[in-house]
Amino acid sequence: MEKQTDIRFVLNDEDVVISNATATRTLLEFLRLDRRLTGTKEGCAEGDCGACTVLVGRLHDGALRYETVNACIRFLASLNGCHIVTVEHLSGPEGRLHPVQQAMVTHHGSQCGFCTPGFVMSLYALWMEHPQPSLTQIETALQGNLCRCTGYEPIIRAAFAVNEYGTPENDYLTREREAITARLQALRQSARIETGPQDDRAILPMDSADLASILQEHAKATIVAGSTDVGLWVTKFMRPISPVVFINHLEDLKQIRLDEDALTLGAGVTYSEAEAAIRDALPHLGEYWDRIAGWQVRNMGTIGGNIANGSPIGDTPPVLIALGAEVTLQDISGTRSMPLEAFFIDYGKQDRAAGEFVSGIRIPRPVPGQIDAAYKISKRRDEDISAVAAGISVIVKDGIITRARIAFGGMAATPKRAASAEQALTGADWSAEAFAAAAATLASDFTPLSDWRASAEYRLLVAGNLLRRFHLEHDEAGGAPVRLAIA
Ligand code: FAD
Ligand code: FES
Ligand code: FES
Repeated sequence: MEKQTDIRFVLNDEDVVISNATATRTLLEFLRLDRRLTGTKEGCAEGDCGACTVLVGRLHDGALRYETVNACIRFLASLNGCHIVTVEHLSGPEGRLHPVQQAMVTHHGSQCGFCTPGFVMSLYALWMEHPQPSLTQIETALQGNLCRCTGYEPIIRAAFAVNEYGTPENDYLTREREAITARLQALRQSARIETGPQDDRAILPMDSADLASILQEHAKATIVAGSTDVGLWVTKFMRPISPVVFINHLEDLKQIRLDEDALTLGAGVTYSEAEAAIRDALPHLGEYWDRIAGWQVRNMGTIGGNIANGSPIGDTPPVLIALGAEVTLQDISGTRSMPLEAFFIDYGKQDRAAGEFVSGIRIPRPVPGQIDAAYKISKRRDEDISAVAAGISVIVKDGIITRARIAFGGMAATPKRAASAEQALTGADWSAEAFAAAAATLASDFTPLSDWRASAEYRLLVAGNLLRRFHLEHDEAGGAPVRLAIA
């Protein structure tokens, strides 16, 4: 079989070829240590602070799309065929400031300056997408950027003002779009890539069939999609993960299909890529989606990764289980599907055999009479992991609950259905009493842990309160339903 042994990409304006690229060299290490592009900073090295934000342009369905990513947890080898844009590339003609930089200067958006390049890159991406952004769009774009000294008010003022200093039509990335697209097309891999030494080997399959045969051969390989979990295994735990099979470039795992009865997402679809379809098919998940991580992580992290990691505190499993989602696994011999809850066997143990990978998820669309909600309880509103996450879905006909599906994250060793609460609600009247009775059953199904996020007592109490809240928010009998703006 023909194999490519190098990684190729465009860095700012330069074509780069890396022979023998290792799997775990991060983009940030490459920029700062190998290229001395030290404008991109290292703060946390775990995707939380945004100091390392750069833009990555990649071809998706033939179109060039730029997104912010955290260079500290993005592996260089995953960037084959991409355009990496760092803060050094922003200066205008004769070294003048870029409109985003000018706005930050004029509005005093920087003090010590350590966070500033990261903010500038996030605002750059925002300005290209929304030249005249709303406050919500600004806040969303900055969810993944931390500033410890300036305070956000001047930065938000700068974000509103960028367009006064220049418009995206005149920006380098707009003017050069066609040329960069052609350069990236020329870099597209024409064979499987295998590169790096045996103890730090990177493999980039051609497609999902090739992925299946690689996993057949390397049953212990580490699959890496967005690397928003695996990146930390390397930067924080120094864990050896070779050989690594990168899958974030596989178009056939990025399919999004919206049918009359279901939304089907390929495992490699990122949160950002799924967002429009989620808002369309499952509007109750819109706000919830915005609260998963920050913008950079949503641009990288995949739904497949959130399921496959088996975490009891992942945000998508509880809400997808409540909706009756099915996960599909694939290996060299074909595919098999199961209800998502059946995938999670125990802490750290999923129903995934050697050689299998998660290929997609099918989420049924709501039927008439179905009421759905998704709740995330965490210490911070943005960029925080859940203490408790809940998906609640009921079907009500003529005032009677005919079906109830409820699942919680953060309450057990796996994302888990609330069997007794579901039983208590099924066949009951739609009433406050029914939901209070369901809440009282939770202690028989869940024995949550106490940890630094929340105590066991708090988790049980809050889970019961979410059931009551669900009823209050959707009850129209007593006049206007209660709607709480902040989760
Ligand atoms: P990766 O890191 O690439 O992989 C994760 C695991 O899944 C690995 O074990 C990998 O081998 C496996 N894997 C990936 N894809 C497949 C596949 N197709 N088949 C089989 N195995 C596969 N998570 C939340 O739920 N909510 C949050 O709010 C949240 N906030 C975060 C904030 C920060 C700053 C960071 C760094 C992470 C956060 N996360 C959060 C965790 C993470 O972003 C998610 O779990 C994400 O969905 C992981 O997807 P990924 O593609 O990055 O997975
Ligand atoms: Fe903090 Fe990368 S260094 S997000
Ligand atoms: Fe100092 Fe933001 S200006 S951290």
